[in-house]
Amino acid sequence: MKTSFNNPGTTQGRRVLLTGAAGFIGSHTAEQLIFSGHEVIGLDNLSTGHRSNLANVIGHESFELIIGDVLDSEFVDSICKNFRPDAIIHLAGLVSVVVAQEDTAKNFQLNVQATQVIAENARKNHIKRVVFSSSASVYGDTTEYLINESCPTRPIGMYGAAKLASENLLAGYASSYGMETVCLRYFNVYGDRQDPKSPYSGVISIFLDRFSNHSPVTIFGDGEQTRDFISVRDVARANRLAATAESVKSGSLNVCTGKCISINDLAEIFQSFYRGAPDPGYADQRPGEILHSCGNGGFASMALGFDPNVSIRDGLADLVAVQDLEEALKTEAFQPAVIA
Ligand SMILES: NC(=O)c1ccc[n+]([C@@H]2O[C@H](COP(=O)([O-])OP(=O)(O)OC[C@H]3O[C@@H](n4cnc5c(N)ncnc54)[C@H](O)[C@@H]3O)[C@@H](O)[C@H]2O)c1
Repeated sequence: MKTSFNNPGTTQGRRVLLTGAAGFIGSHTAEQLIFSGHEVIGLDNLSTGHRSNLANVIGHESFELIIGDVLDSEFVDSICKNFRPDAIIHLAGLVSVVVAQEDTAKNFQLNVQATQVIAENARKNHIKRVVFSSSASVYGDTTEYLINESCPTRPIGMYGAAKLASENLLAGYASSYGMETVCLRYFNVYGDRQDPKSPYSGVISIFLDRFSNHSPVTIFGDGEQTRDFISVRDVARANRLAATAESVKSGSLNVCTGKCISINDLAEIFQSFYRGAPDPGYADQRPGEILHSCGNGGFASMALGFDPNVSIRDGLADLVAVQDLEEALKTEAFQPAVIA
């Protein structure tokens, strides 16, 4: 899809319908929107999300959580009619690449059909803007060192294929009905509230778990493979900007840092947080592993004024601090006092 954007200012006091609000990225996005003065109605069926993720916004006058299924078109229609959002951010989906590969029907329902339900209800209810959570997986195993939006999209699995199908559907809605559909291709997102079982959390959550327990980590290959890891706080900001920009042209944008970090360097940062942790061990490289993946975020910068501002060191320090706090809260010293 050809990408052509303006560089707009943002609007104030927008009403945003946020699907997948109780999830990892959704809950951070809800916070970003509300604390920037927007109103949010969250829709989630709590299949992988948790009400507790929304602890900072539940009870806020600008936030409401509705429990329900995004595949239920009548239900989505009634929310659109009652809430009259200016924009929809559509994050609800099947995140597991493994499940998407094994259960293709579920992948189709959640990662394609749900997009159709959202786009069609947006069209019927004159909601001009839809922001969609796409993924760098649409590029497949491209060998480009710095991936930009004009690189070929050749997904190598069912998850990436479904994300690309959704992007194309939304492009059709944009060209046919004058809607603004913005597909954000997130790279490797990390941060607190990420489900440690998610294949996306991969190396960072495994390192966090091992280093915090002073257990050794195993690095596959020589550790010089690189990835573009982006903090969930930056991703949430990109979502906010895409939903609240005065105007945007439809298309796809990378949401990435443009900075690659090797797995060895990642391990070194963790070692600086957990002094005395054992050195990493090394094992054979995994077959088929992509060696380098780094995004070029120039279009998102031009179109949305989005530039990531959380460095990997700060983002990981933040993650370690949240983990330490959660551990501390579980200990006796932090139990609330019982007054006799
Ligand atoms: N986490 C990443 O690194 C990453 C990378 C690229 C793209 N994405 C995409 O971003 C989106 C959000 O991902 P996440 O990591 O926050 O995942 P998540 O599982 O934490 O969030 C998804 C949310 O959607 C909800 N949901 C699922 N099916 C639903 C349905 N039928 N009706 C209503 N709600 C439903 C879940 O309960 C959950 O709260 C997904 O679409 C995912 O594919 C994530």
